[in-house]
Amino acid sequence: MTLRDLIARKRDGGALTDAEWTFVARGVAVGTFPDYQVSALLMACFIRGMDAAETAGLTAAMLRSGRTLGLSHLPARVDKHSTGGVGDKVSLVLAPLVAACGVAVPMISGRGLGHTGGTLDKLESIPGFRTRLTIEEAERQVARIGCVMMGQTSEIAPADRKLYALRDATATVPAMPLIAASIMSKKLAEDLTGLVLDIKTGAGAFLTALDDEIALARRMVELGESHGCPVVAILSRMDSPLGRECGNANEVEEAVAVLRGGGPSDVRELSVRLGAEMLVLGRADNDVAAATRRIEAALASGAALERFRELVVAQGGDPAVCDTPWRVLPQPAFREAYRARRDGIVHRVDALAIGRGITALGGGRATMEDALDYAAGFSVCVAPGHTVRRGDVLAEVLCEDQGWMGAGVAALDEAIVIGDAPIAVPPLLSHRVTASGVERLD
Ligand code: URA
Repeated sequence: MTLRDLIARKRDGGALTDAEWTFVARGVAVGTFPDYQVSALLMACFIRGMDAAETAGLTAAMLRSGRTLGLSHLPARVDKHSTGGVGDKVSLVLAPLVAACGVAVPMISGRGLGHTGGTLDKLESIPGFRTRLTIEEAERQVARIGCVMMGQTSEIAPADRKLYALRDATATVPAMPLIAASIMSKKLAEDLTGLVLDIKTGAGAFLTALDDEIALARRMVELGESHGCPVVAILSRMDSPLGRECGNANEVEEAVAVLRGGGPSDVRELSVRLGAEMLVLGRADNDVAAATRRIEAALASGAALERFRELVVAQGGDPAVCDTPWRVLPQPAFREAYRARRDGIVHRVDALAIGRGITALGGGRATMEDALDYAAGFSVCVAPGHTVRRGDVLAEVLCEDQGWMGAGVAALDEAIVIGDAPIAVPPLLSHRVTASGVERLD
């Protein structure tokens, strides 16, 4: 078998077997194949698609290309994964929150890329916080405090790590089977007993058609079930950024506000719902209503915030971030208000334009090698449906260099659309997908 033969088969619309995917994943993990051949295979997969059996073959092969965490001594290990959004700081809330409710959360997260933010970048804006942990360190920490938030090591699904970098460079990221296999190979390496997926829908999501998003959810549910890991997928809207703060350090501050029992209502709603689903999967509660009460109690009592403090300390960060985040986190040198130029109703706050704007300000990555300015980003004060008057502050641009302010203002010009007619704002949560089928939530 040669990779050239497999590329030709995919090019012509054929399918690879499990054994062939194993050959591909092993070779990619150890660096046997040149990037141009692997890239050609990825492009063939992108154009021709992959059926469910092929997606399962690639997932299993990427999972087996590395090691997995060993957490079977803990009865319930549940994680949440999002397909990527703007202003989405929910992971920072959920890991300590769910752990405080008695279910272990071994969370392996990613970095921001393109217009979407990354949990690791947000965490690394906390002075001292280490996201590069070994598998052994992660296992010990989960056993001790019930949660860990770390990056994918070179030992976890190494084939996915390399394929993802090549997909990024070859514009082959937004392919449903490749996304499903990539996410599930990493999540299954966490030795989970349950997984909650937050599938983003709308203009700021990787996949923008609802049918594709439901197909992605179904595919990942099937992949989880076939590995003995029940999966619940919630579809949530990502037309507009989640919450007010978009960037890195400012998102940590907003996550701390939610952990203190406050924060914007949409971040709170999504955190509570996903957290409740995690508790049900972790068998802490029998239904979402009971789990919601437990989650809300952990936010109100300060138990979730205290667990976040333990997590920050365990990973070398400054625990003062829990009390006075504005003193500890990097702050922007410049902060400029962006005002409404007319009276009207906010019709759109485009997540994609805001996400691209963060990158233009230095708070996001155009390539994996880019260094970040953790203080750069936006504070968005309005959402679709809000009534505004000329001169009202709609947002603030946060940046390190006055010279970049223009890029921030240009992004807001593109993102925020004000019109005259009242608009209907769709609910944040639209569907729930499980092994039993698809349920509407709105
Ligand atoms: N996140 C991943 O880990 N992989 C993808 O392919 C897309 C988002």
